[in-house]
Amino acid sequence: MATTYQHDVLIIGGGAAGLSLALRIADQCSVAIISKGPSKNGSTYFAQGGVSAVLSEQDSFDAHIEDTINVGGSLANKETIKFTVEHGPENIRWMQQLGVPFSSDIFKSGKRELHLTREGGHSHRRVVHAADATGKAMSDTLENHARQHDNITFFEHHLAVDLITTEKQGYDDGDNRCIGAYILNKHTNHVETFQARFVVLATGGASKVYLYTSNPDGSTGDGIAMAWRAGCSVSNMEFNQFHPTCLYHPEAKSFLISEAVRGEGGKLLLPDGTQFMHKFDKRGELAPRDIVARAIDHEMKRLGASCIYLDISHRSPAFIASHFPTIHERCLKYGIDITKEPIPVVPAAHYTCGGVNTDLHGRTDISNLYAIGETAHTGLHGANRMASNSLLECLVFAQSAAKDISSQISKPYKALKISNWDESRVTDSDEDVVISHNWDELRRFMWDYVGIVRTNKRLERAMHRASLLQQEIDEYYSNFRISNDLIELRNLTLVAELIIRSAMLRKESRGLHFSLDYPVADESSPAKDTVLKPHQKSVKEKIKIIK
Ligand code: FAD
Ligand code: SIN
Repeated sequence: MATTYQHDVLIIGGGAAGLSLALRIADQCSVAIISKGPSKNGSTYFAQGGVSAVLSEQDSFDAHIEDTINVGGSLANKETIKFTVEHGPENIRWMQQLGVPFSSDIFKSGKRELHLTREGGHSHRRVVHAADATGKAMSDTLENHARQHDNITFFEHHLAVDLITTEKQGYDDGDNRCIGAYILNKHTNHVETFQARFVVLATGGASKVYLYTSNPDGSTGDGIAMAWRAGCSVSNMEFNQFHPTCLYHPEAKSFLISEAVRGEGGKLLLPDGTQFMHKFDKRGELAPRDIVARAIDHEMKRLGASCIYLDISHRSPAFIASHFPTIHERCLKYGIDITKEPIPVVPAAHYTCGGVNTDLHGRTDISNLYAIGETAHTGLHGANRMASNSLLECLVFAQSAAKDISSQISKPYKALKISNWDESRVTDSDEDVVISHNWDELRRFMWDYVGIVRTNKRLERAMHRASLLQQEIDEYYSNFRISNDLIELRNLTLVAELIIRSAMLRKESRGLHFSLDYPVADESSPAKDTVLKPHQKSVKEKIKIIK
């Protein structure tokens, strides 16, 4: 007998976005939080720099709005930016009320106030942080509260496979609604049916599509892929942010060196010890991330260097130890004492600016389906996300989605009958090597052909490979029992295709999308989002187009 669950709100994802929404809604209804690993496996837990919000008297909403527009290559949606920025301070206060231990300073007035750090693109100090482990502080606090709430149930090690919609279930009443999700219970290896009145995608980003990334393993774009398959449009998938400074060390998988290190005076150096950022941008080390990452990529290629260096050793050891304890400790583990020597760093894929299109309430194109956090495209980031605006977006959109769901929760509701997952025509795979091989191939060609610098030719090559991989994976998916790796690979390959298609459509360079064939921004008309709608061409058709 197949297992079926019923909740008012099904939240797929237990990061900052999912947990905040759960806490904001749980007094009124039953909530399930699904995460594919232990709950602390999303990017949130690893966030370092902090959350941006206008809190100092010298700062203003207008300044935060203007910085976000400028960093985003003038593509971001002004209404979304205004909405997000103006809801920033109240969300920081909410975090403080919940008990997040943000760093503070005692000022000359004798008052204790939040310490605000700086990061690239910000014209003021406005980044609230908990030393250099802001994400951990936020996750721990949010999760502790959620675990104590009687209406919230955690389902860890559960992988959402696909959304259930009325259209897919054959209900033809003219309104395609999301009514749940099929979820692989990784303890039992069976797919269970989770029925819900409202479903929220809070599944994070897709940076794992690249060979080198700052992200944890689960950033495989599952929410974007599930939403696309269910019929949602996506936007701006070509804007993949590369963080300029990840630790370069053979054993240091994905470890980030926060932009706040540069915010507090860290200098970028070539292997011979010279500073170079001022050759590229007058803001130097604190230029927006797209510019810094491209400059580093350029210098590394020019010199044939395997890394460049980030030096904060001119600050006192006490300052470094108190502001960057995690980074200090982690680097020491690898034999690098950052109080005395520069840190070897390289750029790595960090953030997915595009995603599932939503409005200001997190509503997607499908009724009762919401997308919040990194998986969503709200219009906040445009062509390049400004540092620390992501956690802010998670909090603000969790709040507004919760408000929207609350306003509908008392309406009458009748659960529909949902067919269970059908495993009758599949067998166990005897060829798992296909999955691991395709994972490696995908991430390598995305890094080589769809990375920091792109060309038409490279994108065509990448599209050809993505289409072939998709064909192979679709066949595998139809014949064999599903597994975590297969589902993630299927999603990542689809997301890769959406990235490449979007990159091919943008015939200019803007923000994070830089093409040698169109090296400047097209200023002849207003900048436009790249919107893709799922009236997908078949794989065969796509290969024909490429030929
Ligand atoms: P995540 O925190 O990534 O959580 C995703 C959740 O979804 C996880 O629980 C995962 O298990 C679950 N999930 C995914 N797919 C499935 C599925 N198929 N089934 C079930 N569950 C699923 N941003 C800032 O603003 N400030 C910072 O200082 C900052 N520092 C960063 C440092 C690092 C190292 C990284 C990687 C990112 C950083 N970012 C920062 C970006 C920011 O952390 C993320 O964008 C943000 O935390 C995303 O939150 P989220 O809730 O959307 O998703
Ligand atoms: C960092 O600490 O450098 C990451 C900040 C971010 O991604 O917003």
